[in-house]
Amino acid sequence: MPDVTDAEIRALDQAHVLPTYNRLPGLFVRGEGCRLFDSEGRSYLDFLAGIAVCQLGHSHPAVVQAICQQAAKLMHTSNHLLTEPQARLAERLCQISGMERAFFAGCGATANETALKIAKKHGRQKRPSGDYQIVTLLGGFHGRTLGAVSATPKPKYQDPFRPLLPNFVHIPPNDIDALKQTIGSQTAAVLAEPIQGEGGVLPLTREFFQACRELTQRHDALLIVDEVQTGIGRTGKWFAYQHEDIQPDLVCVAKGLGGGMPIGACLASGQAASALDVGEHGSTFGGNALACATALAVLETIVEEGLLVRAAEVGEHLREALERLPQVRQVRGRGLMLGAVLDQPIARETVRQALDLGLVTNATDEHTLRIVPPLILTAAEADEGVELLAAAIERVSV
Ligand SMILES: Cc1ncc(COP(=O)(O)O)c(C=O)c1O
Repeated sequence: MPDVTDAEIRALDQAHVLPTYNRLPGLFVRGEGCRLFDSEGRSYLDFLAGIAVCQLGHSHPAVVQAICQQAAKLMHTSNHLLTEPQARLAERLCQISGMERAFFAGCGATANETALKIAKKHGRQKRPSGDYQIVTLLGGFHGRTLGAVSATPKPKYQDPFRPLLPNFVHIPPNDIDALKQTIGSQTAAVLAEPIQGEGGVLPLTREFFQACRELTQRHDALLIVDEVQTGIGRTGKWFAYQHEDIQPDLVCVAKGLGGGMPIGACLASGQAASALDVGEHGSTFGGNALACATALAVLETIVEEGLLVRAAEVGEHLREALERLPQVRQVRGRGLMLGAVLDQPIARETVRQALDLGLVTNATDEHTLRIVPPLILTAAEADEGVELLAAAIERVSV
């Protein structure tokens, strides 16, 4: 390929890619461990990990090897034909989650769509007239497909696409009274993230989460836990619901599962695991051999490198370092999914300045920095990142 400038690539992007993203400066060409490199050879510490995706960092040898070996053997067959990596990944996901079966999708939104279709079928069985409800939480985020958008009560995401799917009701997170008032015989399902990611890294309380489980069980409703961002070790356990001694009916995962390879899964147990019949749901790419072989390598490497413990320990170290910054009012979250709430509305500008200083991070709103680095992050890298963050905040503080 001839040498091209960053400006030429940016012009192509602006001319030919739908303008749905606000891109930050730079052209990124390579990754290694917790670092990204731009076309000028500048190195950046990555506190974003592709938005909680690259659990093993960039180009981890185990991931590269799994991709190369599987690609050389068999990449894709369609789900009409049986392949070994999908069956093995389903078994492994069931082992680590305590769930019974898996459906493979291509991303987080389509994992959630699977759960929502199961919830709708369950609702119709309970209430054949169709007047069932699916309860989701204000501040929640479940993806960009129309079912997921209907479940995501944010005007900016919903309003341009009305009318949305019916049957959704939304209540504030951690409001047990609202939960008690809302859940009843008409409830088909409750869908919630254990820690609201896009909503500002806001954890559900143990009491609220347990009340969700207890009330859904009492009213024959399904508890769907959206672990798309919290899952695969991010919070120090395989899944965040495991901190709260809860077993859901449906668990949705994606992001970290493929370590950068696009894959999602909806895990189901009990009646939810037998809700869908042949032909009622499917995916061309979901669970293809290449994605599943890669995900198996990701899960195996998390165990081999002790990354659940590391996420908890380095996460605690990172939290303490963030709490020491004078402009940080509060640090929320768990493990390596942290939100640093700033005392001024400067989070987005801080992200831009941090990039300029060599740190990739993210803001969920004007006050909240979201920090979701690779699980292989060391304590020294955590300190380095916090120093860069401090310098970035300093640049924009008034
Ligand atoms: C909790 C949660 N659910 C679902 C999604 C959607 O995932 P995807 O973008 O892979 O469709 C996201 C993405 O950020 C998420 O954080």
